[in-house]
Amino acid sequence: MSDIVKKAIEAKEHSYSPYSKFMVGACIEGDNGKLYSGCNIESVTFTPTICAERNAIGAAVMDGCKTFKKVAIACSGDGFAWPCGVCRQMLGEFGLDMLVIVVDKEGNTKSRVLKDLLPEAFTSFNE
Ligand code: THU
Repeated sequence: MSDIVKKAIEAKEHSYSPYSKFMVGACIEGDNGKLYSGCNIESVTFTPTICAERNAIGAAVMDGCKTFKKVAIACSGDGFAWPCGVCRQMLGEFGLDMLVIVVDKEGNTKSRVLKDLLPEAFTSFNE
């Protein structure tokens, strides 16, 4: 199992998800070679809930890294959890060519390039 997949699985264990009970961990690899992790964090008022992917992006940006090669996402549910629309857009902010790897409970993986998950992406309001 690759380090990025292992770290996404580890990150899932930090999930704060008392409402959905759906634990998610993400790990994003910067062009600098470093791995940054995040988990989902929920709120009793629901709306402020933040996904694992966006928390991983936050950790990377705080470290000065804004270009990414790949992201791995692990969840506690059955099957694979592809990133939600908001996270696809937010990941796309930092490169539509990154590889998105999803991981199931058994450690099996599937992957797609982000631009295939977010076709005709909105990327600029200046054109
Ligand atoms: N969730 C993520 O962390 N990432 C996604 O891409 C989809 C959903 C979280 C948010 C919420 O805490 C739980 O999964 C159920 O929606």
